[in-house]
Amino acid sequence: MTAPDGATASAEPYTSPTARDAGIFGGPLDAVRVAAYWHAMSSSYAPDASRGLVRFSHHRQHAAALRLCDPWAGQRVLDAGAGSGLLTRLLVDLGCDVTAVDASPAMLAHLRKVTSKVVLSRLEDLALPGDFDAVLAIGVLNFVTTPRDTLRRLCRAVAPGGVLVLQVTEWSAFGLAYWLGYRARGFSPFLFSRRWLVDRAEEEGLVPAGSEHSLPHDLTIGFRRTPRGTVSTIQHSTFQLDRSM
Ligand SMILES: C[S@@+](CC[C@H](N)C(=O)[O-])C[C@H]1O[C@@H](n2cnc3c(N)ncnc32)[C@H](O)[C@@H]1O
Repeated sequence: MTAPDGATASAEPYTSPTARDAGIFGGPLDAVRVAAYWHAMSSSYAPDASRGLVRFSHHRQHAAALRLCDPWAGQRVLDAGAGSGLLTRLLVDLGCDVTAVDASPAMLAHLRKVTSKVVLSRLEDLALPGDFDAVLAIGVLNFVTTPRDTLRRLCRAVAPGGVLVLQVTEWSAFGLAYWLGYRARGFSPFLFSRRWLVDRAEEEGLVPAGSEHSLPHDLTIGFRRTPRGTVSTIQHSTFQLDRSM
């Protein structure tokens, strides 16, 4: 994987038409404000720093992610937007071979204590190989500037038989309440409907494999790439190519 220098703070204006897709709400996202927000949040994500409701929320989210990921010793896992490594540590302790990516240098300072396979990069800027048994994007897709493209590339990083687990703030009444809190901090994350996520994953040859509402505003949803899915991805890509010619 390549991690371009300075990837964490580019203020790329959001111009993609994906924001107007049915099933996706929010944006455009100011990458500099998002980076500043997560920098400020990094101390509360320090291992053992969280208490009360924050700790409870992390526990619920990570338990749901682990159920859908079904980890095993030696599983090659990409933890995309790994933060301080709270979930990464659980995976490492279970024997998984984890590569952890995050855009925040402050989060990475914690993450490096958990695994040596750490990449500082925005997901938007990262070239990913397609050989992970599990790709986890827990609490991060809402904050990328190009969600459709980023989700497509996360899907393509899943090896045949592997799983993708997404945890997002959903486009729902609870999700909107959460979104208003971010608006008050000066930025506008994306919210996603379940349908939008399923449609994008199916376009890439992944099939839904379970979901949970770990918290009222959160959707944790798993997908699996079947061998048949691998074939249909190739067919879909060919079809797209044909249409663009
Ligand atoms: C809600 S935290 C989740 C952390 C971790 N996945 C967990 O469950 O504990 C979101 C993380 O996404 C990272 N992030 C936000 N935008 C990102 C981007 N565009 N590329 C990579 N990481 C990003 C932030 O730095 C932060 O660490």
